[in-house]
Amino acid sequence: MKQIGIGIVGCGGIVLQNHLPGLALCPEARLAALCDTNPIVLQKASQQTGITAVFSRYEGLLACADVDAVIIATPNVSHAPIALAAIAAGKHVLCEKPIAMNHAEALAMLAAAEKANVRHMTAFTYRFVPAMNWMAHLVKSGFIGQPYHFRSCRLQDWGARAVGWRQVAKMAGSGELGDMLSHRIDYAHLLIGPIQRVVADTRRFLDLREGQPSDLEDWVAILAEFSGNRATGVLESSKLATGRGEGAGSQDYCEVDGSEGTLVFQLERPLELQIAKHGENSLRPTPVPAQFLKWPGSPRDPQTGDPLVTFRYDQDVEFIRAIVEQRPCVPSFHDGARAQAVMDAALLSAKEQRWVEIPK
Ligand SMILES: NC(=O)c1ccc[n+]([C@@H]2O[C@H](COP(=O)([O-])OP(=O)(O)OC[C@H]3O[C@@H](n4cnc5c(N)ncnc54)[C@H](O)[C@@H]3O)[C@@H](O)[C@H]2O)c1
Repeated sequence: MKQIGIGIVGCGGIVLQNHLPGLALCPEARLAALCDTNPIVLQKASQQTGITAVFSRYEGLLACADVDAVIIATPNVSHAPIALAAIAAGKHVLCEKPIAMNHAEALAMLAAAEKANVRHMTAFTYRFVPAMNWMAHLVKSGFIGQPYHFRSCRLQDWGARAVGWRQVAKMAGSGELGDMLSHRIDYAHLLIGPIQRVVADTRRFLDLREGQPSDLEDWVAILAEFSGNRATGVLESSKLATGRGEGAGSQDYCEVDGSEGTLVFQLERPLELQIAKHGENSLRPTPVPAQFLKWPGSPRDPQTGDPLVTFRYDQDVEFIRAIVEQRPCVPSFHDGARAQAVMDAALLSAKEQRWVEIPK
């Protein structure tokens, strides 16, 4: 079978960290072309990968006949135009989160991809953490009964350092909300189901980061109600939790309390859940069973490498397997769009200081 040719648009941090090692696990895929508007980044990526088909504009990459699928890893503002052009050129698309600047853009991407019958995927990377995958299975199988409460807390200390395009509204759309909380909104949808309404607040403490203006929030909190089961959600995320560190070792806490038990996920322990059942009064650390240690179809050896890093590679495996098997990707643009609907509602709620319903 012909290998799937992959084009990467935006060759910065996340491509080097997640996508290149992920693609390296996929014998069915072959890196074919690279694009970045920054010539230094592009040259470095070309040297690192040995790929000589390099472009400073995505239109050039999309015109390559041997590019069958595209990974979009640019700042958020360019996700929708690049994705729509890729879909129009008949390419499958894996797009970084948040997939768009707002819900309307995300819906347009979803509709175009469905119409063109190409695979579409949102890079909600933390679904691939073994403990989160197992947690979703346990909740769906009824292990904790009727879910009452969803709770998520993402605390990092990014201090006052400059964060580039991430601190500029016209490039990022939102600050901590899109950057960090979008993944946790996806946890909520994955574990409990659609969020029906939210009330939210945001705060920017730093107007300048290393002398560069910031016009986006450093902190966000959402109070949510889920549709159907009336479960409650409380979500908080901050870049200014002093002393908490940053990255995968800092606080990423997620808890679901149900009528029959409680499950607690902590990213820093990716191979373990803490579990309590009805009648008990403390949580028990419980290892993730073998069948959840890697994503279905992943050739990865779960015993090899740093478990806080290697789960990320299963995301690209899922994209490639979905193309080969001609089935929907998990998570898809549908998941990206519904997270975006909640993000839009949270920003509106914070602005107008009121509950906001999520469009169905
Ligand atoms: N899934 C995750 O866990 C995760 C983690 C980090 C970042 N991200 C997402 O990945 C995306 C990129 O983040 P990053 O940290 O890699 O950023 P980055 O700044 O390190 O890299 C972005 C690259 O895109 C290039 N670029 C900008 N506009 C472009 C355009 N129009 N065409 C081609 N290249 C362009 C820049 O020159 C830069 O090299 C963002 O959407 C971010 O939210 C996701």
